[in-house]
Amino acid sequence: MILIVGGAGYIGSHVNKSLNEAGYETIVLDNLSYGHEESVKWGRLCNCDLSNIDDVDEVFNKYDISAVMHFSSFIDVGESVTNPEKYYNNNVVNTMNLLHVMLKHNVKKFIFSSTCATYGIPQKIPLVEDHPQNPINPYGWTKLMVERILKDYDTAYGLKSVILRYFNASGADASGIIGEWHNPETHLIPLILDAAIGKRENIKIFGTDYDTPDGTCIRDYIHVTDLADAHIKSLQYLEKNNESNQFNLGNGQGFSVKEVIESVKEVTNKEFQVIETERREGDPAILIGSSKKAKETLGWNPQYTDIKQIIETAWNWHKKLNKEYL
Ligand code: UFG
Repeated sequence: MILIVGGAGYIGSHVNKSLNEAGYETIVLDNLSYGHEESVKWGRLCNCDLSNIDDVDEVFNKYDISAVMHFSSFIDVGESVTNPEKYYNNNVVNTMNLLHVMLKHNVKKFIFSSTCATYGIPQKIPLVEDHPQNPINPYGWTKLMVERILKDYDTAYGLKSVILRYFNASGADASGIIGEWHNPETHLIPLILDAAIGKRENIKIFGTDYDTPDGTCIRDYIHVTDLADAHIKSLQYLEKNNESNQFNLGNGQGFSVKEVIESVKEVTNKEFQVIETERREGDPAILIGSSKKAKETLGWNPQYTDIKQIIETAWNWHKKLNKEYL
């Protein structure tokens, strides 16, 4: 059985679906603080908190777990600056608790959700896996610390891991039954969709004076179903007893904030107010990843390379989630 920690959240719920479709049995461990019970449509749900080692131990006693995928971290970069304790406690200490219980039960396959935020300000685009890692906020540091811990645990305890550094996760499952559901929401695409559906009055562009063609930040938006597929391939990679590894997961193309807003207008056919405001702290101008290594080593091949396709799936889900605004 595969344990999905944080499987009630956005990316975890999509991976849960893909794992079940690929024939794996899953258990979701989630404290439902940010995740949603409604998103756990496959496998079993254990409502359990990683800060309680005995409860986590119980889950490992009860089920025959062969590998663990870990999604449950806090992801609000701004909040990580104002409340770093919350981030280090959950993203680092709780992850160590999970690894502790895994080792106790001799479970030594681990897939970890990391981020392009571990690179900090890019020296060269597209970002490759051996680009220096110098995070510029506590959120990025928490992820890099776990990456370091995993390296040392491999050397000392033989714990094999695949570290997946996501670029900007986006979109929703094509079925429309699960999707992005954060509260509070801070990510660009769902916020623009909120403006399109009338839940927000406007969308603010954080900075129009960046060194990019239209002055707004460029990001690499990668579809959540493609991310899910990379997890299955990473699991199969570990099942073949390969060495620990790290991969970037992006679609290799960048889209500016203005381009994303224009695509949302086209897909939704809605007009809404766009306000240009000052820069948000800590945003690099351009983040685009090279996924060459994941393609070559894992045989991963993202399917949703067009931003409009990504937004279509996100909009399909967003309309269901916010029916009352239609
Ligand atoms: N943005 C706006 N207006 C908004 C929200 C965002 O202009 O209302 C801009 C941001 O300034 C940024 C871009 O849209 O230029 C994307 O912002 P997101 O907040 O959606 O995502 P980030 O690029 O900040 O994502 C980062 C890292 C991820 C990490 C994530 C954590 O790239 O790896 O933060 O939530 F996981």
